Amino acid sequence: MVHFKAVLVLTSIALFIAACSGTKQEGFVIADSKSYEASLFRQQCAVCHGPEGNGKTVDGKIVPSLRVGDFKFRSEAEIYNQIANGGNGMTPFRDQLTEREIRLLTDLIHNRLRAKKE
Ligand code: HEC
Repeated sequence: MVHFKAVLVLTSIALFIAACSGTKQEGFVIADSKSYEASLFRQQCAVCHGPEGNGKTVDGKIVPSLRVGDFKFRSEAEIYNQIANGGNGMTPFRDQLTEREIRLLTDLIHNRLRAKKE
């Protein structure tokens, strides 16, 4: 019985540690979204910005997070422009995406990925 209790305690500790160190995405979760813009993001942007837009390093170059940090572009117009025209390592999307698609992605980044967490 004592042995059984010890196993129980150890299991609880292990579960507790697993829960705390889990890398669950906070805020809007792209992977869970069935929206059109989320699927566009998965197809066009995740390769460089990561599946949840947290940024990553591609061939030694740092691709910025679209969620947190010191953003280079803040207004919707600036974000739209970056997606349409690219630059500084990012491919332009004006010939691959429609104006509506670029607007949807701009909205996704500006109003959901970057939304303040309450
Ligand atoms: C080939 C890799 C690549 C792809 C694909 C890519 N990006 Fe980027 N993106 C970058 C890099 C590199 C930067 C940093 C540019 C800079 O510093 O000026 C960037 C910057 C940005 C920024 C500006 C971030 C800031 O700091 O304000 C936005 C917004 C953005 N990307 C959105 C997108 C979206 C939306 C897509 C998909 C349609 C996409 N990117 C696809 C590489 C990529």
